[in-house]
Amino acid sequence: MHRGEIGYDGDMARRDPHSYNDDTQVATESVAWTARIDFAAKVLHCEAVLTFREPGGGALDLDTRDLAIESVSDHDGKPLPFTLHPTEPHLGARLAIELPARTKSIKLRYKTSPDASALQWLDPAQTMGGKLPYLFSQCQACHARSIIPLQDTPRLRIRYTAELSFPQTLTAVMAAADRGRTVDGAIAVSRWEMPQPIPPYLLAFAVGDLKSKDISARCRAWAEPAQVDAAAYEYAGVEAMIHAAENLFGPYDWERFDILTMPPSFPYGGMENPRITFITPTVITGDRSLVSVIAHELAHSWTGNLVTNANAEHFWLNEGFTMYAERRIIEALDGSEMASLSAALGRRELDESVARFKDRPEMTRLRVPMQGIDPDDAYSLVPYEKGYFFLCAIEAAVGRPAFEAWLKTYLRDFRFGAITTEDFEAHIERGLPGALAKVDARTWIDGEGVPAAAVAPRSARLDAIEELRGGPAPVELASTWDATEWNLYLETIARPASAELLQTLDARFRLTQSTNHDVLVAWLTLCLQSGYHAVQTRVDEVLASVGRMKYLRPLYTALAKEPTTRARAQTTYERLRAGYHPIARQMVESVLREHG
Ligand code: BES
Ligand code: ZN
Repeated sequence: MHRGEIGYDGDMARRDPHSYNDDTQVATESVAWTARIDFAAKVLHCEAVLTFREPGGGALDLDTRDLAIESVSDHDGKPLPFTLHPTEPHLGARLAIELPARTKSIKLRYKTSPDASALQWLDPAQTMGGKLPYLFSQCQACHARSIIPLQDTPRLRIRYTAELSFPQTLTAVMAAADRGRTVDGAIAVSRWEMPQPIPPYLLAFAVGDLKSKDISARCRAWAEPAQVDAAAYEYAGVEAMIHAAENLFGPYDWERFDILTMPPSFPYGGMENPRITFITPTVITGDRSLVSVIAHELAHSWTGNLVTNANAEHFWLNEGFTMYAERRIIEALDGSEMASLSAALGRRELDESVARFKDRPEMTRLRVPMQGIDPDDAYSLVPYEKGYFFLCAIEAAVGRPAFEAWLKTYLRDFRFGAITTEDFEAHIERGLPGALAKVDARTWIDGEGVPAAAVAPRSARLDAIEELRGGPAPVELASTWDATEWNLYLETIARPASAELLQTLDARFRLTQSTNHDVLVAWLTLCLQSGYHAVQTRVDEVLASVGRMKYLRPLYTALAKEPTTRARAQTTYERLRAGYHPIARQMVESVLREHG
């Protein structure tokens, strides 16, 4: 059988544009992974045993990126010939192995590169404690292949066991069930098992000076020692969130819901790693004002981790459904007013993202053609918010009770599965006949931009903000605002804003001193877009202390767009680059290139 030499050739056998996986070949059922962590060399020395669902033979293509493969052998230890093909952009290198008939499993010995795209290695100076190194993984979208050679597509779920060895002064956590730790001299060995099958992008671990504090029987806050109390305080409401989510979406299936507060360079707000969600430290505000990020990652326990997008072209199935689920959790806990405010902000951000893609409008479809496109480059809020508003349109068309009933069947029928937009369409057409036609689903799924019929979130609190028409906010009103309302208000201020208005606002509300990064960054962005340079130092502080891309992107974009600060954007980035996560570097570099 012919197989193309390039990654995704529209060939039916290659069904994921970001994987060499060929579905005519054997499929991996489970992985047994052993890694010795060498902090000095920034290398993992590994062994991985891939066991197949059924014994098989013939060609096997695995995804790898920057791996040095030492040997491949079969279940009897017999060496197998392999070829590591040249690296292709966005895909990595195809590891082609020829399996003898009836091969049950293979063992690979290899080591990772110091540049492994899934890993960030932090020097002690980059941690809170300042004494011990730190290592963490981030595998979504497709970086698992830079730490394990595997079939790196969410279409193929795997179970795994893992064993990490590392200096005994450190503690390791993994998104799996803890199977204990032993110490031998200076070296600790920790073991885990993931009994539920997961898409490879949910494989995750972190190693550092970690402590934990129990929040409830199934939730534990993990962080560096100096932050663990603050983390436990911030997330105290998590058990109530799980209850609310279980009422909406059915029993929580992953046993534990621990939360690891990451080092500041973590490039995302959160990552829904099963059993232990990874969260940016910027969520720790001291007043629980950003815990919607926890609701979001928790919601993925159903939408994303149970029902998974088959590949990045259908990413909206993960994130659009999760925005819907997140806002339902917010509604259950804080009321519909708060959920509407969140949706209203979502709508503003959606319009901004659509505008940002004016030269690549196909990126604003729900089903996005992704051949030759790096999912990290394509990342935007469009799948999140357009997906959310699409689901809201369907809900409005059929009524909430019918929509909820259908959603339960969707989560039940596709549990532990991986689906495409077409699977979603067929399922909803069966459960809610005519609903797709009623909302003109084609314009949502394959059309560009936002359909005019999108529901407009409404709330009295939103009206109060809009009535200000971007004028100075009165103290009595603004003192009742949460972070979402501040964001909505700051967005209504036309750019460039007058220095007088900005001075008034800062004097009244001390926005430059805000400890809520959602508010702070919206404020600083407004100032930069208005040529108000009094905030310079604070901007530098944020860029130097936080690696969350949601904050880096608008600040670097505003700096790079403005001729008087363009050079500063470049020099600031060069100074801070070493501290940023590889994915964040890639994003900032593309911003600087675009506006340079
Ligand atoms: N799964 C995403 C993060 C992600 C997406 C990582 C794509 C890599 C590739 C996570 O659930 C997420 O959406 N995080 C958001 C949280 C926000 C919407 C509350 C973030 O990081 O900002
Ligand atoms: Zn998400």
